[in-house]
Amino acid sequence: MAVRAIRGATTADSNTREDIFNAAQELISDIIKANGLDTADITDIIFTVTPDITAVFPAAAVRGMGITDVPLLDMAAPDIDNALKMCIRVMMHINTELANSGLKHIYLKGARSLRPDIVNRKKISVAIDGPAGAGKSSVAKQAAVDMGYVYIDTGAMYRTVGVYGLENGIDVISSPADVVPELDKIKIDIKYEDGVQRMYLNGRDVSSRIRENDASMAASAVATVGEVRRRLVDMQREMAKAGGVVMDGRDIGSVVLPDAELKIYLTASVHERAMRRWREYNEKGIECDFEALKRDVEERDRNDMSRAESPLVQVEDAVLLDSSDMIYDEVVAAVKSMIQNAENR
Ligand code: DC
Repeated sequence: MAVRAIRGATTADSNTREDIFNAAQELISDIIKANGLDTADITDIIFTVTPDITAVFPAAAVRGMGITDVPLLDMAAPDIDNALKMCIRVMMHINTELANSGLKHIYLKGARSLRPDIVNRKKISVAIDGPAGAGKSSVAKQAAVDMGYVYIDTGAMYRTVGVYGLENGIDVISSPADVVPELDKIKIDIKYEDGVQRMYLNGRDVSSRIRENDASMAASAVATVGEVRRRLVDMQREMAKAGGVVMDGRDIGSVVLPDAELKIYLTASVHERAMRRWREYNEKGIECDFEALKRDVEERDRNDMSRAESPLVQVEDAVLLDSSDMIYDEVVAAVKSMIQNAENR
């Protein structure tokens, strides 16, 4: 949790109590809605008004909305030549788990002209699919942060179900469907702390546990079970509802978000993916055999591409991005530029 500031502004239609009330209330309720806030998240609200607003304080309008225990303040904006008239500006501080880039600042009516960069930007849904080891999650995460999008790692959800199975005596590898009768006991919460997705299994932070090798194997096994997929896909669609998300996985463009405005199929050759893993292990001082890593990559591809339920496919409307001969920064830049283009279509 951090205290962060949200900005906004609007204009009143006239210098009357009614028009100032309407403008201030619309501004505050749009900020609350767009950022999914509860009034308990608000720590204070500061308004400034241009000198032509004299009929009432905007803070009175906020109290009129039933927000009574938040400190409020009105101040006079400087009298600047040619400045926007009848303008109400606001700074709202909130307690939030969102990073600055995830906050939505709101500019309404005449004040839209103050921030064309924000107002005219249409945030879209971005689906990134591809085989294991292609760098999807690090690329998707970086592109999302840079573009002010929320990153959703769907693999982490399958991993969390896999970890539940491992910890509860279910033989997930040979009988993954045995998790189905337990699904109602599995509560998955996804929280964002400083923009980083953290996974909670029945209230416990399992963000590190799900990255262990047995969790990868368990995830891959439970991901073949139709009922598991249906539950997780429902959660994923709910999370993507408001737009402004970059979601990565295997079935995002095909099943989860078939209407995503941008679909990317991010891949790299088997050789290159095995090589990246080899370098990673080497840097950590872990000994490994390149040919064995290559066989692992091929095996995971076979699993993901040949399963009956939502196999990994490159859908027709996905852009193919082969990163075999690209460095990480080039891949992130390519994804960001695709998002920008799709926002402007
Ligand atoms: O991307 P990852 O390695 O964290 O995914 C873990 C497993 O979950 C992987 O074997 C494929 C599966 N998965 C899936 O079937 N569908 C998704 N949308 C995401 C992951």
